[in-house]
Amino acid sequence: MKMTGMLAAWLGLLALVVSGAQSAAAEEAAVVLVAGGTGGTGRHIVGQLLEQGHTVRVLSRSEESARNAFGETVQVVVGDVRQPETLAAAVDGVRYVVSAIGSSGRVDPDNSPEAVDYRGVKALVEAAAGSGGVEHFVLVSSMGITQPTHPLNRFANNILLWKGLGENALRFSGLNYTIVRPGGLIDEPGGQAGIRVGQGDTMEQGRIPRADVARVCVAALGRADAHRKTLEIISGSAGEAVNWESFFAPLEPDPAGGFGG
Ligand SMILES: NC(=O)c1ccc[n+]([C@@H]2O[C@H](COP(=O)([O-])OP(=O)(O)OC[C@H]3O[C@@H](n4cnc5c(N)ncnc54)[C@H](OP(=O)(O)O)[C@@H]3O)[C@@H](O)[C@H]2O)c1
Repeated sequence: MKMTGMLAAWLGLLALVVSGAQSAAAEEAAVVLVAGGTGGTGRHIVGQLLEQGHTVRVLSRSEESARNAFGETVQVVVGDVRQPETLAAAVDGVRYVVSAIGSSGRVDPDNSPEAVDYRGVKALVEAAAGSGGVEHFVLVSSMGITQPTHPLNRFANNILLWKGLGENALRFSGLNYTIVRPGGLIDEPGGQAGIRVGQGDTMEQGRIPRADVARVCVAALGRADAHRKTLEIISGSAGEAVNWESFFAPLEPDPAGGFGG
């Protein structure tokens, strides 16, 4: 009787070890798609994901620029969010999506805020939702989305208004999502200061290194306590550490069926 009990306990332990190993292997195999991975923020996102051992796929309009940036360390899918038919291959087999795409309407009027920040984001969201496998979609948006008179709308073809519509496409997609709205982006090293978080788009303007925006996106991935949340971020005090374990939990989720403030 005793022997049978011991055997059962050992078999139970073995099953636990095997299932643990299987889920670790599945986690390792999870593919993260970074749309806009060749961009200023996207490069940090890709770099941090690779450091953490993820399998990373980059969506870019140019294989050459993705290969120049990352060599053979990432999968590359050539696609354009203005051409929804190019996106199915990008999301195929993907568990997480991070989008740091942004329009370039000033240099290329066809790559406008409406085409990229709204319709392009919407197409990517729909492809992700349609794939059936995406568990979390993190979108880099912007502070100021809720302010129609914001100067950026005047100078850049209503970019914030279009980004707001892109956000809503994600909110109403049925996907688990996190929307990260940074202040002005700067190219300084990350991890040098704390990160101030706001909600409701009421925080005063500030700046934040692209590397720190990337840290927030990467930290959010796969965290249930980051789901259905919209947050604004700017740099906090110099030298202040960020506690990622308690970063997202205190934030309010977006109202069900409503727009993020
Ligand atoms: N600049 C700021 O101060 C500021 C402030 C707040 C928020 N933001 C937002 O933060 C995000 C990241 O900004 P960033 O300056 O780091 O980005 P960025 O360097 O301008 O990079 C933009 C990325 O978008 C991709 N992209 C552009 N058009 C595309 C299209 N039609 N199809 C597919 N991909 C496309 C580009 O990829 P390929 O060229 O390889 O295709 C590139 O990787 C953007 O959404 C931006 O609007 C910026």
